[in-house]
Amino acid sequence: MAYVHTYGCQGNTADSEKLKGFLHQMGYGFAHSKEEADLVLYNTCAVRENAELKLFGKIGELKSLKEKDPDMLIVLCGCMMQQKRITDKIRKSYRHVDLMFGTYAAHQFPELLLHVLQSKKPLIENQERDNFIMENLPVERESDFMASVQIMYGCNNFCSYCIVPYVRGREVSREAGHIIDEVRQLVSNGYKEILLVGQNVNSYGRGLEEPLSFSELLRRLNKIEGDFRIRFMTSHPKDCSRELIDTISECGKVCPQLHLPVQCGNNRILKEMNRNYTREQYLDLIRYAKEKVPGIGLTSDIIVGFPGETYDEFLDTVSLAKEVRYLGLYTFIYSKRDGTKAALMDDPIKDSEKAKWLNELIDLQHQISEEINRSYEGKLLRVLGENPDSSEEGFLMGHSDEGLLVKFAAPIERIGTFCTVQITQGRRAVLLGNLCDKS
Ligand code: 5AD
Ligand code: SF4
Repeated sequence: MAYVHTYGCQGNTADSEKLKGFLHQMGYGFAHSKEEADLVLYNTCAVRENAELKLFGKIGELKSLKEKDPDMLIVLCGCMMQQKRITDKIRKSYRHVDLMFGTYAAHQFPELLLHVLQSKKPLIENQERDNFIMENLPVERESDFMASVQIMYGCNNFCSYCIVPYVRGREVSREAGHIIDEVRQLVSNGYKEILLVGQNVNSYGRGLEEPLSFSELLRRLNKIEGDFRIRFMTSHPKDCSRELIDTISECGKVCPQLHLPVQCGNNRILKEMNRNYTREQYLDLIRYAKEKVPGIGLTSDIIVGFPGETYDEFLDTVSLAKEVRYLGLYTFIYSKRDGTKAALMDDPIKDSEKAKWLNELIDLQHQISEEINRSYEGKLLRVLGENPDSSEEGFLMGHSDEGLLVKFAAPIERIGTFCTVQITQGRRAVLLGNLCDKS
């Protein structure tokens, strides 16, 4: 039995589904905990330091399990393993790990595992090379109604704080035909939500034999027959065109939703971050999106306390969040990543001070989220039933097309179906409602 745990972004989740596909082909079943497993695999994330610290704790915990069962295999892969500093540390201080491989070697997983089993020696595979695309890898999907489909790999943007371009390599896009075939197959197998995944989906299609824009890809996917919806992430504002917003508005299957990370609202810091847009350009885009797609669900990522950021500059982020009125925000305190440009910059503000700024932003966002959620009271929303509510029997949780989290009373059979829900109460983090269809 294998236990697979994934840290980080949608890209890692999609990779893990392929690694599980390999494991399934090799004859492994899947365990719900590491204690029941004879192979433990952690797919790691390097974006922020706390993800790293967490992983070291987890690897430490595995030592006693391995002492009890020396045949147990411990495998680490993903972004952290692409960094030599990390694999060196693990080799030195965590000698119970059997196999480490980086993001470029994921497709070699079965060979690497076989090598470890035959040689009975630990193995590290983390060479750098160009990204390339392998089609038709086996995949073991977590859900039978929501699927992530990777449309591109890597990132070319080199935002100055970010490690991703170093551990995931340069951008490459999958051929549109392969993506369309995969989505068509998923829809014919009953999938209701397709999440298109890439670090910067707006630059999809560059370098393909038949170059095509992300908007065109969406239009082609929108033509696939069937009752399903399409989401995508992540969009980079510098490449997010008005054409993309027109496409969202014109394609019925594309959700009226946009995750458009701004990172901060101050032009000097945006420049230092190497984001390649200004606050004004970003806000223009948001205005256009609100006008073209009324009710569009907007979300964003924000980094607080970039090196050299002052409190006054941070207040520009607060005022931007007030102006945009996001449904929700993913907020992070800046985390220094060795090897990035920002890691060399002076960073005089203490994390404890940055945490205060962060809380100020979170408090504001809570207030905005609650106001937005209240404005839905009495309205009907289309919600995909996703899972039972863990705290109250008879209730399901799901997301509306615009990305709102909804809790509603419905039978378990409605999981994996679209439900029409009338909202009765908007709370800060969730909308409550009643099912009002009978299908
Ligand atoms: N520190 C803090 N947050 C970061 N992110 C990326 N790199 C860092 C970093 N060094 C955040 C960005 C990105 C999200 C996935 O993670 O907001 O959009
Ligand atoms: Fe990192 Fe910027 Fe690329 Fe996103 S666009 S993965 S933040 S470098």
